[in-house]
Amino acid sequence: MGKTEQKMIANGKRLDGRGPLDLREIEMKVGVIPNANGSSYVRFGKTAVIAGVYGPRPLFPRFLRESDTGILKVRYNMIPFSVDDRKRPGPSRRETEISKVIRMAFEGNLFLKNYPQTGVNLYLEVIEADGSTRVTSINAASLALADAGVPMRDFVVGLSGGKIDGTLILDLNGLEDNNSDADMPMAVLPTKKEVTLLQMDGRMNPEELKDLIKHVIDASGAIYEKQAEALRKKYIE
Ligand code: CDP
Repeated sequence: MGKTEQKMIANGKRLDGRGPLDLREIEMKVGVIPNANGSSYVRFGKTAVIAGVYGPRPLFPRFLRESDTGILKVRYNMIPFSVDDRKRPGPSRRETEISKVIRMAFEGNLFLKNYPQTGVNLYLEVIEADGSTRVTSINAASLALADAGVPMRDFVVGLSGGKIDGTLILDLNGLEDNNSDADMPMAVLPTKKEVTLLQMDGRMNPEELKDLIKHVIDASGAIYEKQAEALRKKYIE
């Protein structure tokens, strides 16, 4: 999916019919991998991620163990048929970076000190990619960690913001990502309103940046509600 000459916003609507601050259709489920301690499926439009959490469990090799804390290990991976062109299997630089920033978005939020000598493995498999895969993975990670019973200070919500044709937008799809003036993935603790990840590609002025951060934080509450609902649903069923 490349750059296009087409206008990305016409009469206040994006090409997929959304208003600037509308999110795509969201689907969330927990408990989708029977063998995992916790798992989830999260879809934003045509971006879908499966998350699996294994642990906290004794960490191997032993020399990696920390006597006073557990360790979070994250692997973000795009499966070969998740994108238009086949993605080459195996970790790329991009996947290594995304795994690291997702780990950093969660680390300070988990009570890993309660689990010394252990490891928590978080696997994120992007099965369909149409923009904003790292933030969709963050939503899936939150649900899978909660499903595994790993104690957290707050949920973590992921949402991308951006600027396109001079307009601030939320939840970029793949075409918008490729044609934006700026895109800004964020992770937010929705009840504490703290930001645990903020990356940005492109250009915005300081006013726009401030407004966009506010839009992302404001919209994070609705995503958090959906996460809570998905967890409640599993336990009610
Ligand atoms: O996915 P995210 O927005 O977090 O990260 P990105 O590196 O900005 O990638 C933007 C989008 O480009 C992805 O969501 C995919 O839709 C697409 N992409 C792709 O088609 N092939 C790749 N190897 C990597 C990304």
